Amino acid sequence: MQLPRTPSFDLTGKRALVTGASRGIGLAGAMALAEHGAHVVMAARDERAIETAAEAVRAAGFSAEAMSMDVCDLPVMTDKVTASGPFDILFNNAGTNRPTPYVDVSPENFSSITDLNLKAAFFVAQTVAKNLIAAEKPGSIIHTSSQMGHVGGIDRSVYCGTKFGIEGVTKASAIELAKYQIRVNTICPTFIRTPMTQSTFDNPDRRKWLEDKIKLGRVGEVEDIMGAVVFLASDASALVTGTSILVDGGWTAD
Ligand SMILES: NC(=O)c1ccc[n+]([C@@H]2O[C@H](COP(=O)([O-])OP(=O)(O)OC[C@H]3O[C@@H](n4cnc5c(N)ncnc54)[C@H](OP(=O)(O)O)[C@@H]3O)[C@@H](O)[C@H]2O)c1
Repeated sequence: MQLPRTPSFDLTGKRALVTGASRGIGLAGAMALAEHGAHVVMAARDERAIETAAEAVRAAGFSAEAMSMDVCDLPVMTDKVTASGPFDILFNNAGTNRPTPYVDVSPENFSSITDLNLKAAFFVAQTVAKNLIAAEKPGSIIHTSSQMGHVGGIDRSVYCGTKFGIEGVTKASAIELAKYQIRVNTICPTFIRTPMTQSTFDNPDRRKWLEDKIKLGRVGEVEDIMGAVVFLASDASALVTGTSILVDGGWTAD
């Protein structure tokens, strides 16, 4: 009897680009990909921090290099990503938040978040896709979205706008890129303990809000994201495109 076999989660021979890889979710995603065999190019602005992170991944026995860049500097980003590519896998993760009441959002606040979370994310993925198409290679693009790409959140009108936006970009680009066998998906975490969320965890009201909302009764750790990254990067998800994996502890279940 011919038994079905689980498609491989192995990423040996693949090149992966991870943006925002010096800490938090990006560093965890880079490790997840490296642990499964990929060569990982780790990008962030702070040169020393990204060199230190890449060196730590190498010291753990995996294959990684640092790329210092500001993804919002689109001409520089395009040149660097193209020169280092093509990348079979993109974990498009660099992002930020400045939680602000809706009525207090300024144009400067709006631009600082949208320029990174939506505009730069769009063009990093477009650059990776163009390079894959030119090389006639398949690929997997994984955006770090958020549960806030599916529901609203207090003080997060701009952030939610960017994450709902990237969900739309994912669906539309997945339709256009499918003919090239390039898949596009998002990972949507709940609150994960990282430097970005420290101010929310430090606020007792906000902390109670999120603990009440996460059905599994705890906030997330970066390790909670790693399995989803490997799944979406690998052949195990070969027929998955244009969709989201919510890693939200049940936040959006009701
Ligand atoms: N933490 C959460 O609870 C949570 C939940 C849902 C979604 N997310 C999303 O997950 C992603 C990562 O969040 P995180 O919590 O891990 O953030 P983080 O700890 O603040 O890390 C952000 C990373 O992005 C890099 N970065 C920031 N601006 C950049 C730029 N212009 N160009 C290149 N790299 C840049 C940072 O390094 P440099 O400063 O050196 O550039 C750092 O490596 C974001 O997209 C965020 O929206 C987070």
